[in-house]
Amino acid sequence: IDIQVASSGGNASSPIMYGLMFEDINQSGDGGIYAELIQNRAFQGSTPFPSTIYPWTPIGDAALSLQNTDTPLSSRLPTSINVASNSTSGSKVGLVNPGWWGIEVKPQKYTGSFWALGSYTGDFTVKLQSSISNETFASLDIPSQTVADKWVEHIFVLEPTVAAENANNTFSIEFTSGSGSVNFNLISLFPPTYKNRPNGLRVDLMEALKALNPKFLRMPGGNNLEGDISHYPWRWNDTIGPLTERPGRPGTWSYQNTDGLGLIEYFHWCEDLEIEPLLAVWAGMYLGDEDDHLLTAEELKPWVQDTMNELEFLLGPSTSTYGAVRASLGYEAPFHLKYLEIGNEDNLPKNGASSYMNYRFPMYYEAISAVYPDLIILSSTGDYTAVGGSGANATWTDFHTYSRPDLLVSWFNKFDHASTEHKTLIGEYAIVQENLPGAKLEGVNWSLPKVKFPSWIGAVSEAIWSIGAERNGDKVMGMSYAPGLQNMNSYQWSPDLISFTALSSQTTLSTSYQIISLFAHNTHEATVPALSSSPYGPAYWVAGTNTISNSTKEFIFKAATYNTTSPIPFNVTFEGVALGTTGTLTVLGADGGWSANLVGGEEVVQRREGVLTAGEGGTFGFEMGEWEVGVLRV
Ligand code: AHR
Repeated sequence: IDIQVASSGGNASSPIMYGLMFEDINQSGDGGIYAELIQNRAFQGSTPFPSTIYPWTPIGDAALSLQNTDTPLSSRLPTSINVASNSTSGSKVGLVNPGWWGIEVKPQKYTGSFWALGSYTGDFTVKLQSSISNETFASLDIPSQTVADKWVEHIFVLEPTVAAENANNTFSIEFTSGSGSVNFNLISLFPPTYKNRPNGLRVDLMEALKALNPKFLRMPGGNNLEGDISHYPWRWNDTIGPLTERPGRPGTWSYQNTDGLGLIEYFHWCEDLEIEPLLAVWAGMYLGDEDDHLLTAEELKPWVQDTMNELEFLLGPSTSTYGAVRASLGYEAPFHLKYLEIGNEDNLPKNGASSYMNYRFPMYYEAISAVYPDLIILSSTGDYTAVGGSGANATWTDFHTYSRPDLLVSWFNKFDHASTEHKTLIGEYAIVQENLPGAKLEGVNWSLPKVKFPSWIGAVSEAIWSIGAERNGDKVMGMSYAPGLQNMNSYQWSPDLISFTALSSQTTLSTSYQIISLFAHNTHEATVPALSSSPYGPAYWVAGTNTISNSTKEFIFKAATYNTTSPIPFNVTFEGVALGTTGTLTVLGADGGWSANLVGGEEVVQRREGVLTAGEGGTFGFEMGEWEVGVLRV
């Protein structure tokens, strides 16, 4: 394939081409990137997921029960665990927590706290120990400060000196029986967090996300924004302030969310990774209740106002009503926000798109753009049924697709004729099922299982999809694989970008991750024409440039191959590049299309790197085999 790459004449590319999508699914927040190690730390409950003692277990002859004491820890955390013992023998009683399917123990500081109510006068002993050998990794006696009728916080640090061999470890609180019962609530233990943020995020997962080189974070959903049960959308003001003031909510994905990972934590996440927040707000559509899932315009009014309050909290001066709330939490300066999405997949239910277009989107758009004209507002329908503004204020739309490899490759040119004014974000995409026999180009069959991990062929088709998106740099503003994270011990959706367990050594970067990482580290400021007499397929490509200095540009050429019987020879000529100029070629491949990165398995993606020298006419020659993805940087 001969390709001539021009040095100018294309379109500016988006500065936020590759990003992240996050919602609490697959225990990706609680039990995942939110670094809290204690599962069910505050006995939060809701109608669908009532408060439970699980997974706490008693020590000694302790009896554990849930109580709503006359004096609650807070009105938002009314339920606590009572630890009682009939024994007068002075034996040890208490409660044990297994973490989120284990606790990683390393020689590092664990910051803990618990609230207690009672009149116990001895010591509490907090411990990290093995649930198999009972080996104690760290133990500390804390004098009780309890008083009857008043909740008192106890703060401690545990510092093991050795690492545990596995994740089968527990955290416990013990005390001496015989002096009445004690109630506990908000029992918390954090390992060191990313950038040492209090109430922060898991280091290895944040490092993996940082290494991907993303440019934005779309959050907090996804379906989890909307709530599966009527009347439980994600509520920003239930996720801010001290943890004692966060009631939690029934998430969409079959578990209670603690909301410890809340609005401010999401903004810290963006600040710490130096990426753009793309905040989604609920748009009057619940997921679950088929008869009642769309709000009328009248019902929607207070919710539009609620979004205005949220925006004032984030962006308003500290003298404004909600800006003052932010300042009272220690954030005098407004947060940075440029992108705001109205809802999530609001086209899906019957009448979803029409109600969204007729009144739901316009109500939000008009109220928000009047006060925040610089915000880029996205509709969630993925088409242009609901758009507003024009020029610099034109709205964008968020397009999602879950697909099969052959089908996604056939969509290579999907955005060639998209709107250049109302631009597109591909806020969710992934290959979730294999190809169909006979190369049938049918979409996903949602009644059949999805693949467990991203396969290599799927990742290559996603690369071709990304190349198609990059070619349309004036139309597609960014893309994020979804879902982002999967706790292997409890998940609702596979495949995912990164899989993990309680042990950081088991964090597994998928084949899709490897592709995105390659592309996200090789972005360009502008596309340039890359012309050939050969049609696209089985090779697909895009070229772009970056300005290095006033007189120097670099070229970035990306290519992928799909369904070729023999290696494809490329001869790529870059305008203005002289004989002898060198470039670096990186090619990713794997043995077999359906190989995947499994937790605990070998990395299947092979990386080949080399320096190439331009021949006669500034042409670089190289070959790429079946299902390979390459970047040539000149
Ligand atoms: O990524 C999983 C789900 O797929 C998201 O929650 C939803 O937006 C989409 O349908």
